[in-house]
Amino acid sequence: MYYPDEVIEEVREKNDIVDVVSEYVKLTRKGSSYFGLCPFHNEKSPSFSVSPGKQMYYCFGCGAGGNVYTFLMEYENYTFQEALKTLADRVNYPLPELEYSKEAKQEADLKATLFEINKLAGKYYYYMLKSEHGQRAMEYLKNRQLTDETILKFGLGYSGKNGYDLYNYLKSKGYKDDILKQTGLFNVDSKGFYDRFRNRVMYPIMNTNNKVIGFGGRVMGEGEPKYLNSPETKLFDKSRNLYGLNIARSSRKPNMIICEGYMDVISLHQAGFNQAVASLGTALTVNQAAILKRYTDNILLTYDSDGAGVKAALRAIPILKEAGLSIKVINMRPHKDPDEFIKALGCEEFQKRIDGATNSFMYEVAIMEKDHDLKDPDSKTAFFKEVAGKLTEFTEELERNNYIEAIANKYMISYESLRNLVNARGMQLGIEASRRPVRQKNKDNIINKEDALVQAQRVLLTWLIEDTGLFKKLENVLSPKDFIEPLYNKVAVLLYEQYAGGKVSPAAIVNHFDSEEEHKEVAALFNTPLRSNLNDNDREKALNETLQRVKNNSFDYRKEHALSVNELQEVMKEQAQFQKMHIYLN
Ligand code: UTP
Ligand code: MN
Repeated sequence: MYYPDEVIEEVREKNDIVDVVSEYVKLTRKGSSYFGLCPFHNEKSPSFSVSPGKQMYYCFGCGAGGNVYTFLMEYENYTFQEALKTLADRVNYPLPELEYSKEAKQEADLKATLFEINKLAGKYYYYMLKSEHGQRAMEYLKNRQLTDETILKFGLGYSGKNGYDLYNYLKSKGYKDDILKQTGLFNVDSKGFYDRFRNRVMYPIMNTNNKVIGFGGRVMGEGEPKYLNSPETKLFDKSRNLYGLNIARSSRKPNMIICEGYMDVISLHQAGFNQAVASLGTALTVNQAAILKRYTDNILLTYDSDGAGVKAALRAIPILKEAGLSIKVINMRPHKDPDEFIKALGCEEFQKRIDGATNSFMYEVAIMEKDHDLKDPDSKTAFFKEVAGKLTEFTEELERNNYIEAIANKYMISYESLRNLVNARGMQLGIEASRRPVRQKNKDNIINKEDALVQAQRVLLTWLIEDTGLFKKLENVLSPKDFIEPLYNKVAVLLYEQYAGGKVSPAAIVNHFDSEEEHKEVAALFNTPLRSNLNDNDREKALNETLQRVKNNSFDYRKEHALSVNELQEVMKEQAQFQKMHIYLN
């Protein structure tokens, strides 16, 4: 489902990056570049630069950077396809029809129809809510202090009482049972189809492109289940979507708030906290954490303050941490959830709770404390041992020491004795760990932990992009297969193809990747500034060192995967030859 490279290049070339960025950021010319305040982080003096020559932007403050597509992807949170469409429209460029395989076309058509039906269903529920049938539902929502504006913004609705209204409506629009079955909107038994949602207040669930993918329906008042949700369908994957993210994604707040319920999200948004999201009736997943990481680095958790909420928070924290997010927990006591809190105390109070939110580690420790009686010496010792064990999880010494200090201060014990305990515990765990097999690395193509080898591959790729003269210089030394990291390997293959074709063009490469994470990763590749302050000698040294790393890693990989002694000897011979080489830059 790709647009041809030429199309992407043409659209990019017709959209001058300075013009496009100027629509969002005030730019001033300084020498050959333009500067402005970075829209991706808070700053007082401009470190955001746009280069008309390179047709790229880069922020020296936060490292954001890319081409005109990346800019829209980052600023508007668009997918690549959306950015392409917007830019094509901007210059009245007619995009060609995409060519699909037969299966892909059927799948795309099916999804398009399901989207269409969901949209109609959402509109239908909304219409029902506004009609006289929906009077009670409307009262219910008004009772919960939702404004008309909020109701419209979230597209809330009402599903009629008799259980076949929606079915009849969609049939009248010409949809066949076969497709209606796949919407998740109906139950089917021997007598036929019934509306799944009856006499409920309806909450459409949208994906990040504002398309309805499913529904939650709440009983008015008491009743079981309180919320009925759409089942998983071709469109509705509960583990990869978040309620409210369609709005929160462009809130431009320095954080995102995760809460438990639909109503919490809606209340928070109505109170101005439009960065709130919720998972979809299930515990937070690894996928959802990764999605959130695309939009923010900072998470505020505001799960219910009851036992279940605490448990959910303790489950979510490690998942979010693993995704590289920094997490704080909001204390809502004496209220149960954000919805109740805001109704009782208002948004200014909630903002205060945000400002005073507890760092997730301190929160976890506070929860551990509850299981111990600090007045009892044995229990107190057990508590500190447990805390010490947890402190060993910080692998960075400075960070670990800072937390040791924070805990020592909070619980009024000496820093030294806690640190000794942590070290002792660390040794013990270290010994245990060394006996255990090494944990399998994340198999995703996306780079999670940058080790030096991955970084070397990245630097080398960036170098090739910046200075295409290197292709020739490294002709007999380097090839795409030396890039072991799957993502970089793919980029290298494309890059070498382009070079052979006569024109290296980063913007076209971006198009070969599907997920937004990959786009950002690739964009980062094209915009990592090489240290330009190096003199020629140092540059040459740096290049040779980087090359050594990449090549030796590649040799190691090939040796590990060699299928025969001959192959192994071949690699070793190549490696020996390589060791004698030196690349001269001038
Ligand atoms: P809550 O019961 O906290 O929901 O469940 P809430 O949004 O605060 O609802 P109100 O304020 O009572 O109206 C949290 C979330 O768990 C899921 C829903 O996603 C809900 O928003 N849930 C809850 C269900 O899917 N089914 C249920 O029966 C209950
Ligand atoms: Mn609630």
